[in-house]
Amino acid sequence: MTATMTRDAAGSEARTPAPSRDELIRLLNDDLAHEYQAAVMYVTYAALVEGPFRPQLATFFRSEVAGEMGHAQFLADKIAALAGTPTTEVAAVPAARDARQMLEEILKAEEHAIWRYKERSAQADALGDIGLKVQLENIAAEETQHRDEVKRILDGWERVAG
Ligand SMILES: [Fe+2]
Ligand SMILES: [Fe+2]
Repeated sequence: MTATMTRDAAGSEARTPAPSRDELIRLLNDDLAHEYQAAVMYVTYAALVEGPFRPQLATFFRSEVAGEMGHAQFLADKIAALAGTPTTEVAAVPAARDARQMLEEILKAEEHAIWRYKERSAQADALGDIGLKVQLENIAAEETQHRDEVKRILDGWERVAG
């Protein structure tokens, strides 16, 4: 399935090549497994987090679950619309020994998600799927809000928690 790979051959070399439909389905399924990972990560960390900030952190983590599952639902719908089969796999959730490490793992995961959706929206654009491009950009904007919120918690961590 390489029929669409030459679409940008005459254009700028900086352009993202259009993936084949099968490749797009594979990539969106990888994104989907990472959305499930994010939801499971927030559920698990909300259950396990301890220390003086447990009430706020557990509430914050729980509040993120529905949003990540909304991203998962969008991706599963799109994969099915492309005649693919949505994965039920969950990317591995990293273990964390304390609240700070949980926040650092979440920061990494959100930054990874932003990178993924930046790449994926460029691929959707190369395919001419403007609807997918815009939806992926909206998801990227939400992941950016998550990233910024977690980064602000971590930025002030030493001043109160050492
Ligand atoms: Fe997400
Ligand atoms: Fe997120």
